[in-house]
Formats: sequence, C-alpha cells, structure tokens
Amino acid sequence: MACKLLILAGTTEATAFARAASDRGLDGIVSFAGRVERPLRQPLPQRVGGFGGAAGLACYLRAEGITHVIDATHPFAVQMSRNAVAACAETGVPLVALTRPAWSPVPGDRWISVPDIAGAVAALDRPAARVMLAVGRMHLEAFAPNEQHFYLLRLVDPPKGDLPFPRAEIIVDRGPFDMAADRALMERFRLDIVVSKNAGGSGAHAKIAAARALGLPVIMIDRPPAPPREEVHDVEAVFDWLAHCGTDLGV
Ligand SMILES: NC(=O)c1ccc[n+]([C@@H]2O[C@H](COP(=O)([O-])OP(=O)(O)OC[C@H]3O[C@@H](n4cnc5c(N)ncnc54)[C@H](OP(=O)(O)O)[C@@H]3O)[C@@H](O)[C@H]2O)c1
Repeated sequence: MACKLLILAGTTEATAFARAASDRGLDGIVSFAGRVERPLRQPLPQRVGGFGGAAGLACYLRAEGITHVIDATHPFAVQMSRNAVAACAETGVPLVALTRPAWSPVPGDRWISVPDIAGAVAALDRPAARVMLAVGRMHLEAFAPNEQHFYLLRLVDPPKGDLPFPRAEIIVDRGPFDMAADRALMERFRLDIVVSKNAGGSGAHAKIAAARALGLPVIMIDRPPAPPREEVHDVEAVFDWLAHCGTDLGV
C-alpha cells in the first residue's frame, strides 16, 4: 500500500522523522502551527496554520488522501494532539504519536515541581531574583504579576510588543542547546533560578543539566495529560508501526 503521511510537527523529533521518511522515499506533508516566523526547512512538502479544529483536520485528511498521521508535536501541544485523536477516529486514518519521555530528577537536581504555568507563577511569588524563564513567548504575559524579578528569556523569535515585566534580557536562539554553553550563560547572567516546561528529549535538556551543575533550583512545569493513543519514542519505531499498518516503505 502506498502511503501519504501527515507529520504534525514543531519539534526536533518531527524534523528527524521527516528527514528519515524522505530518505526512504516516502510521500508526506509536514504541518506547522505557524508559531515561529521561520520554521526549519523540511525535506518534505510543508504547510503552515491550523486545520480548524478536529472537524477541519478530518476534512483535511480526506481531501489530501492522508493514509497515516504521525503526531510529533511538543508534549505541551495537547489541543493539537486531542484533535488528531478525534479526527483520526472519525476518518479511520491510523495515528501514532512520536513522543519523548518526560525528564525525571536525578541526584543533584533541585526541582520545584508545579502542575502548570499558574503553578510556576505562584512559585515565583517571592523576593526579587534573577530568573531564566524558558517557557516560550506565548506564556510570558502570565508572569506579569511577578515583576520584581529580572528575567532572562530565550526565544525562537523576538517577542511582539512590550514585555510584561520591566527588567529582562532576550536571547533569540533555537535549540538544540549545549550544557557547557548554558552553564556559562547562567553564570554570566548570575541567575538564581530556572523555570522550564518538562519537555523531555535532549534538545532542551542542557539548561536542566547546567542548573544541576550550578546547584540552581528549577521550577519544573509538569506536562498536561496526553490523550490516549498509540505512542512510540523513536524514529525507527514509527517505521515499524508503518510496516505493521501494511505500508510499502519503499525499501
Ligand atoms: N507548547 C509548547 O510548549 C511548544 C514548544 C515547542 C514547540 N511547540 C510546537 O508549536 C506548535 C503549537 O503548539 P501549541 O502548544 O500552541 O499547540 P496547541 O495549543 O496544542 O494547538 C492549538 C492549535 O494550534 C494549531 N496547531 C498546533 N500544532 C499544529 C501543527 N503542528 N500543525 C497545524 N496546526 C497546529 C491547531 O489549530 P486548529 O485547531 O485550527 O487545527 C491547534 O488546535 C506545535 O506544532 C508544537 O509542536 C510547542
């Protein structure tokens, strides 16, 4: 059976899978939400923008003749993941999620675990400190109540408009990041604390390892619950899944 994949992207893993799929001569489309101004160039055709909810995605799957959906979105992109489950159930298109296991604390880590962004804001209700706020630009507004802190922001694109706090420095950069460089960054900015989503994977882990090396506390935001679906953790496992779906992998 020939296949046409829809790869829901926005992560290092999605790009790695798209490259591997292209190398095997598979047909597919890589989909981005459009949150970053210049998504990384993909080895397969790409599209940008929402589908219009689960119903819109179901229409898209039918219209494009999509045979398989690979949800390789970020673990915090749960709305997209829920829509993918619903649309695939409606259309009968097989779905697999390419996910990263969550990070777990190891000896030396000083994590303050919080359930969500609001929990991180509450944990920062403390005397002024120098904070690395690594939560992406969509959530900066939530931290406005804690304007006593200095914030170091590392963002893929510069923020649009004014920041919601008076003292901040912005570094425009995209991962993967390096532990030694992140440690040097934390020392240069004399940081006291790091705020991070529990993204999992290797690309964003450097700051967690650097904080451990420097003995800094990390306010770690737990993942929202993912919808029930089949999950695999590496690119090869997606090809195994495709083979079990009766796909001609072209190898
Ligand atoms: N959340 C994070 O911390 C984070 C971090 C790094 C990268 N990302 C990436 O950024 C993108 C957006 O994340 P989010 O947390 O804003 O998502 P979200 O809250 O789960 O999704 C909100 C809406 O954005 C659209 N959307 C999301 N991902 C899409 C994709 N890959 N292709 C087409 N439309 C998409 C969908 O719109 P419609 O309902 O109109 O279809 C979805 O309902 C994702 O691709 C994700 O992998 C997110």
